[in-house]
Amino acid sequence: DWTTGNVIEEQVAAIREQVGDKRAICGLSGGVDSAVAAALVQKAIGTQLTCVYVDHGLMRQGETEQVEKDFVAATGVQLKVVDAQERFLKALAGVSDPEEKRKIIGREFIRVFEQAQLEIMREDGPEVAFLVQGTLYPDVVESGGGSGTANIKSHHNVGGLPDDIEFQLVEPLRKLFKDEVRMVGQELGLPEEIVQRQPFPGPGLGIRIVGEVTRERLDLLREADAIAREELTAAGLDREIWQCPVVLLADVRSVGVQGDGRTYGHPIVLRPVSSEDAMTADWSRLPYDVLGKISTRITNEVKDVNRVVLDVTSKPPGTIEWE
Ligand code: XMP
Repeated sequence: DWTTGNVIEEQVAAIREQVGDKRAICGLSGGVDSAVAAALVQKAIGTQLTCVYVDHGLMRQGETEQVEKDFVAATGVQLKVVDAQERFLKALAGVSDPEEKRKIIGREFIRVFEQAQLEIMREDGPEVAFLVQGTLYPDVVESGGGSGTANIKSHHNVGGLPDDIEFQLVEPLRKLFKDEVRMVGQELGLPEEIVQRQPFPGPGLGIRIVGEVTRERLDLLREADAIAREELTAAGLDREIWQCPVVLLADVRSVGVQGDGRTYGHPIVLRPVSSEDAMTADWSRLPYDVLGKISTRITNEVKDVNRVVLDVTSKPPGTIEWE
């Protein structure tokens, strides 16, 4: 019968059988699925697995450290962290269009990740033949229920290696739903902050700055976001809301008065939503005192922000993210 213990035991045996004495790599996004998939594979094959984490500089406060320290501490996994912050900032310079930003971030991400893959493959050791993916059951169903033998191509002709390296996929979460994945993660000893993490978009804060993405704006948004998350957590609301994007309207300014003078700063938007599956969503009716506290703290503590506004739009017509 179904217990997390049985699932883990069964998957560990299956992964060992599949991978044999070869090596595997896994990209970590900071999200639940890739973390649990990596932890399972690590339990099965130990140092035959290397994880790659691309730090694109668009993460929220503490998230990279969470992967670097807490995840490694909990699993003992071999981790390669690639600091690509400069590269992403450069690629995003001057770009305000949401779709263009998404394309640039996606493209740079793949380039950096594949570069890291090639570096790992050049290291001494058995062939790197496997790529670990955190595919869940709903993903399998949605994409027509493939048989799991799919190969994906690493199509980059970066120096010295054949340009048609094929990986076999290891997908230990293919039979699981999200809540089961969280239970497995918990059983594997992953920290609560990773296991119960709310959804966060791959392009990160890059699509929560309306306007051009710069280092200063990212730092500012990170501060505001950290305050909102801290207060929502303190109020015990994390499980009640689906997620709460915090958005910087970098191209908008409004007049304010602070201390002894006039200010002309940016608004921060709070976008708390409740949802079952992110396909539709309703704006969350958060307690006024919590909203008030977040607003006071953000305008007091974050330089250049003089206004906090609440997004009261459902999805549809609004999407959850602003870009
Ligand atoms: P929207 O804005 O389309 O978002 O209502 C629906 C859900 O998806 C998340 N989201 C993303 N997740 N990569 C991701 O991994 C993305 O590019 C992306 N864009 C949006 C969003 O946070 C929400 O949970």
